[in-house]
Amino acid sequence: MRVVIAEVPELARVGADAVERVLREKEHPVLGLATGGSPLPVYAELERRHREEGLSLAHASAFLLDEYVGLPADHPERYRHVIGRELVDRVDLDPERVHGPDGLAEDLEAACAAFEAQIQAAGGVDVQILGIGTDGHIAFNEPGSSFASRTRVMALTRQTREDNARFFGGDPQAVPARCLTQGLGTIMQARQLVLLATGEAKAAAVRELLEGAVSVAWPATILQHHPDVTVLLDEAAASGLRLAEHFRELERVSR
Ligand code: PGA
Repeated sequence: MRVVIAEVPELARVGADAVERVLREKEHPVLGLATGGSPLPVYAELERRHREEGLSLAHASAFLLDEYVGLPADHPERYRHVIGRELVDRVDLDPERVHGPDGLAEDLEAACAAFEAQIQAAGGVDVQILGIGTDGHIAFNEPGSSFASRTRVMALTRQTREDNARFFGGDPQAVPARCLTQGLGTIMQARQLVLLATGEAKAAAVRELLEGAVSVAWPATILQHHPDVTVLLDEAAASGLRLAEHFRELERVSR
């Protein structure tokens, strides 16, 4: 794994570079988009490049990692709307080509299978942006998730509902109890992964991700088995790492 420990603007540049490379190299680039606070600096940098440097996303398609089950179609916290506000509406991505699992489907399992099929039909994800939960989840793959899992219905942990209560008036009970999420097996098939983590609350999960044993207790540790992962950390998120100096040194000598 490449590990970059830097201030947020530098992390945003490295993350946006990975996306820009795919946009320039591929005729039909496929982006994997995460919602949540962590990727926002990367999206802001992509927006800046679009506005100031003419970077185009018009030929790309995109897939979301997850979606809440049962939020009304017009609810502002549906991830379809969130990603619209945070990225799609700010650049020239075609909203018709931004796909997420359908959390309002009558048959949720069929919706999950259809979403998996859409990803395959697009040729798979070229670059997947990820955050990480304080409990080590990626997308909504909570602890205990199978490493082979595909898109499916998942119940959120109490911890995740508390973490996300800030988007629902501070009330964990208002956070939907279930979601649809890409599985760990789905995420591992993306050709490149870029994970962002900032703030001290993420330090324990980041330590497990980079220095812990691969374990379903910390789902993100499966990324140790992916051949192309970049982990972007601020100082606070890196503060629990025994190997922080080593990662800095590696970055200095290899760039
Ligand atoms: P955050 O969420 O980026 O809002 O911290 C990350 C996650 O829960 O995966």
